[in-house]
Amino acid sequence: MSTEKSVAVITGSYKGLGFEIAKKLAKFDNIQVIITGRDKEKGLEAREKLALQGLEVDYLPLDVTDEKSVEDFVAEIRKQYGRVDILVNNAGVNPAREPEESSLLTAKLDTVLSTFTVNTIGPLRVSQALIPLMKERNYGRIVNVSTEMASLNLISNDFYPLAPSYRLSKIGLNGLASLLAKELKGTNILVNNYSPGWMKTDIGGANAPLTAEEGAETAVYLATLPDGGSQGGFFAEMRKFGGPFPLPW
Ligand SMILES: NC(=O)c1ccc[n+]([C@@H]2O[C@H](COP(=O)([O-])OP(=O)(O)OC[C@H]3O[C@@H](n4cnc5c(N)ncnc54)[C@H](OP(=O)(O)O)[C@@H]3O)[C@@H](O)[C@H]2O)c1
Repeated sequence: MSTEKSVAVITGSYKGLGFEIAKKLAKFDNIQVIITGRDKEKGLEAREKLALQGLEVDYLPLDVTDEKSVEDFVAEIRKQYGRVDILVNNAGVNPAREPEESSLLTAKLDTVLSTFTVNTIGPLRVSQALIPLMKERNYGRIVNVSTEMASLNLISNDFYPLAPSYRLSKIGLNGLASLLAKELKGTNILVNNYSPGWMKTDIGGANAPLTAEEGAETAVYLATLPDGGSQGGFFAEMRKFGGPFPLPW
């Protein structure tokens, strides 16, 4: 089956930033949003929450670290919609509050690995699974949620915690975008990363200055880029600069 509407998949989207991105994209009449996540009950609750606001989204289970879950997800997408136009790789973890994460010399390698498994390998796995569907229609917009904490050019002077597992995984995610952009050059599949800023979510904590709703704005901009738009870019949270603003890698 193939739907008339564009199909947008947002990973880890029953709460936090992912939920706000889903909500904003669901306001477009021509976009069918698929909320995804590991917990079916939370996914259905999120769908219901948006339905009460007049926004019709679907939910499908997806654990970005689980090969079988991704395979089942893609099979369901093919069966129910026959296409994917937008992928927002939002699912992420940040173990920075663990005391060992204050130094590279104490960081537990198991933690480094598990963080990479979600934040870097997860987006690679889901991209590998969904890009073939995008290629069938020569259309795709891939947005990876990164962080300015992963900018190699800013790292030496920034004031953020060391957070080695998180930073290394997001540096990997930035590398993924650059390499994918190189591979997709000449196609109408655009891949870009952005930093949503420090937001009040389970990852960001209560002291963050931004809401997830504010952090979602740049994701929507990148998810709806016109043909010929940015390929392989890294952007700051656009509200801060009054428009799209490139970050150094
Ligand atoms: N908050 C900030 O200040 C900030 C700043 C820069 C970047 N970011 C990035 O923004 C993204 C969203 O984070 P958030 O702040 O909204 O935090 P959040 O509320 O904790 O959301 C993280 C989401 O990722 C999901 N997730 C984790 N592991 C997963 C897996 N294996 N498969 C599928 N989903 C999984 C979580 O679902 P479960 O509940 O099932 O674990 C949750 O829905 C992350 O990539 C984060 O690194 C956040």
